[in-house]
Amino acid sequence: MAPTSKSNAKVKPAEGKLGILMPGLGAVATTMIAGVEAIKQDIAKPIGSLAWMGKMRLGKRNENRMENIRDVVSFSRPDQVVFGGWDIFKDNAYESALNAKVLEPALLEKVRPALEKIQPMAAVFDPEFVKRINGPNVKKGKSKMDLADQLREDIRRFSRENNCSRLVVLWCASTETYIPLGDVHSTLDKFEAGLRTNDPGIAPSMIYTYAALMEGVPYANGSPNQSVELPALQELSRIKGVPIAGSDFKTGQTLIKTVLAPGLKARLLGLSGWYSTNILGNRDGEVLDDPGSFKSKEITKLSVLDQILQPEQYPELYGDVHHVVRINYYPPRGDNKEGWDNIDIFGWLGYPMQIKVNFLCRDSILAAPVALDIALFIDLASRAGFSGVQEWMSFYFKSPMVAPGLKPEHDLFVQQLKLQNTLRFLAGEELINHLGLTYYGVDESDAR
Ligand SMILES: NC(=O)c1ccc[n+]([C@@H]2O[C@H](COP(=O)([O-])OP(=O)(O)OC[C@H]3O[C@@H](n4cnc5c(N)ncnc54)[C@H](O)[C@@H]3O)[C@@H](O)[C@H]2O)c1
Repeated sequence: MAPTSKSNAKVKPAEGKLGILMPGLGAVATTMIAGVEAIKQDIAKPIGSLAWMGKMRLGKRNENRMENIRDVVSFSRPDQVVFGGWDIFKDNAYESALNAKVLEPALLEKVRPALEKIQPMAAVFDPEFVKRINGPNVKKGKSKMDLADQLREDIRRFSRENNCSRLVVLWCASTETYIPLGDVHSTLDKFEAGLRTNDPGIAPSMIYTYAALMEGVPYANGSPNQSVELPALQELSRIKGVPIAGSDFKTGQTLIKTVLAPGLKARLLGLSGWYSTNILGNRDGEVLDDPGSFKSKEITKLSVLDQILQPEQYPELYGDVHHVVRINYYPPRGDNKEGWDNIDIFGWLGYPMQIKVNFLCRDSILAAPVALDIALFIDLASRAGFSGVQEWMSFYFKSPMVAPGLKPEHDLFVQQLKLQNTLRFLAGEELINHLGLTYYGVDESDAR
């Protein structure tokens, strides 16, 4: 891969090593790591990664400037990235990848030495929050604050031992059970008091987030857990000047939903129901079989349609939509999830029609480049001096975080435009609004 060529005034260059630390070295994390190691050996291409493979237009359409995104803003190259993480199981990344059965053993054999070196650090874990699994590689501590201090020490040690210039932490561990946010999550002071007194409302994911932010390390959340969502931890991210992003990787069924729904809405086709169901047999599916963990997932999966369709603006089209989402644990399929969508729509004079989608996907194959891009983009955000919630990274999330008072944007193409314009902004390039009147002799300088 060609080295990153262009740096610019607004972004510090991606020099030195970037450490990507992940709570959870399971299917997604190991598929991502194995892929990056294969890319380093030039036996694979970074398919699905905007940072390493994507191109975008700069300037006017008649200038013919399609550039590699990695040349527009600087990203760490594959050879600059190192991985580490925590897991409740002691398996190294090679063993964990074999167990996950996403990649075939012949491919894993080629990257085995690099993966075997990645030994998970002991996790912060609480079976109250993840009910279907338990493991031996877990920290002990006098209090939740003590556990946070141990994680902070892990982060510092990893950075030292791997000679990292920068780090990011990306949650790739299991989905925790849903809990409503309470007083302890409301301010940083109350949250820190709760860490010292072992408040039961503080989940392990929140302890990892706290530890990362205290170390000045950007944090992104690949699951629907509430961690970066907490007002207390958002306050900490602003105090420390550190970017945060989340939540829940937008990969299979929800990706397709946020492609299709904007199309239906654009043509004012009505919707009476959207029934989505999945079968999946990996460890993620096993954890999501628990109603508490599924509740977290259901919330992020259900929220997308309302925001895209705006039923308050079009009650006659979208005011009575039956939206159902199911995930069924079905071991024979492993990571090869099958999703069915039945979409009941109606058109002119109310005549009903149906769309059926049958997506035979591979969960971790879809998630791996998303996880990689999130790590590379949040590092970019940090080098650009951004802090707090990074809404421009919504493109990657089922449940994008936004500033208070804003509704999240779920339409994949609006999200893409937002992301690309942010990159143009960082590169000091003209923003693109797709008005295009200038090609027809109209002066666009009057546009408001
Ligand atoms: N694969 C996808 O397409 C996709 C999409 C959206 C979100 N996600 C989310 O990504 C996460 C990872 O998915 P996966 O398929 O790799 O799951 P997985 O079960 O294969 O891996 C999760 C790993 O996290 C470990 N773990 C659990 N609690 C932990 C803790 N407190 N600290 C450290 N490790 C812990 C588990 O032992 C396991 O090895 C899940 O939360 C999942 O919901 C996945």
